Amino acid sequence: MLASICRTNLTKLQRGAAAFGTAAEEIRKPKTAIVMLNMGGPETVDQVGGYLHRIMTDRDMIQLPVQSKLGPWIASRRTEEVQKKYNEIGGGSPILKWTNTQGKLLTEMLDRILPDSAPHKHYVAFRYVPPFTEETFAQLEKDGVERAVIFSQYPQYSCATTGSSLNAIADFYKNRNVPSNITFSMIERWGNHPLLGKVFAERIRDKLQLFPENVRDDVLVLFTAHSLPLKAVSRGDTYPHEVSATVSSTMQQLGTRNPHRLVWQSKVGPLPWLQPYTDDAIKAYAKQGRKHLILVPIAFVNEHIETLHELDIEYCDELAKEAGIEQIERAAAPNDHPIFIEAMTDVVAQHLSSGQHVSKQFLTRCPHCVSARCHSSKEFFKKLCNNNEKPEPIAATS
Ligand code: FES
Repeated sequence: MLASICRTNLTKLQRGAAAFGTAAEEIRKPKTAIVMLNMGGPETVDQVGGYLHRIMTDRDMIQLPVQSKLGPWIASRRTEEVQKKYNEIGGGSPILKWTNTQGKLLTEMLDRILPDSAPHKHYVAFRYVPPFTEETFAQLEKDGVERAVIFSQYPQYSCATTGSSLNAIADFYKNRNVPSNITFSMIERWGNHPLLGKVFAERIRDKLQLFPENVRDDVLVLFTAHSLPLKAVSRGDTYPHEVSATVSSTMQQLGTRNPHRLVWQSKVGPLPWLQPYTDDAIKAYAKQGRKHLILVPIAFVNEHIETLHELDIEYCDELAKEAGIEQIERAAAPNDHPIFIEAMTDVVAQHLSSGQHVSKQFLTRCPHCVSARCHSSKEFFKKLCNNNEKPEPIAATS
């Protein structure tokens, strides 16, 4: 339904913009910022050192003993090896390119269906590479937006990922006044949106077609997500069950009888993380005689080093062959799939029409959280998003 609204409903605003030169310039001044949060990835190999340094010193992401010394040491030791991996996928991460494409398509669709909050403009706030949170928030203040929707691009919430990006926003405003003329609100999780499950199901269907008909129904669908230290799971991080919810929704949308499992990739360091690990699972299934697999990266909305290198090169090209898997395919990330753009648009449109600024789910800490940073960050967002009047609900046109 949303798609047909979007196709047919050219707003008055856009007609006005097309018709009048100077007025159009004014009209294009953004009214609503959609701030897309993600970790980001190095666009060039020169950025790899700084990127790793920021990750290894981010205590929201990873906790190490004497982190201020050990973190930079690990980062510098790993830089060359990680640079090599980026070289093997073309010299850099495509996350910024995909996020800009998604943001552009999303805001075009929002302009069509939500004339009251248009023009919408997307902003990118990455945690570990430019454009950083600070630059982005300074820019949207400068642009004079009236409304800012902080929109996590990790659909499933974790204190280590979305939580870390939100803490960076709280840090930015520590020594600076929060602009009282901007109404802030946030979407921090959306992993159970049905259209998200639908786009993953489409991506799986595309790959199922590549298997011979006589084995197609038996292909094992192996959902894979970035793992998390067991310490974080035991603290009560909601990520594992939110990822599971996306898996269930995807299988429901897929509607086939293919077996499936959820496994975890990209563990770092010696401590125990959430298992089974993806590489171990591929080897174990090969031993069990499962020879046909599809890997589905279920927790990232665009291609990145973990899909293009870890899954495609290390697991599909190398490990699966050595293990004796006959055929393994990797489902594409959502990227610019039209259903995905529709999903994002619907998430934002529902958020704007709900009038909600910050969810109680976000404001509730993990049961075993002992981080003063989490506490102060949640207090900050409670104030930031409630500072202004409760945002006016904005309804889509039909
Ligand atoms: Fe989850 Fe602090 S670790 S709220």
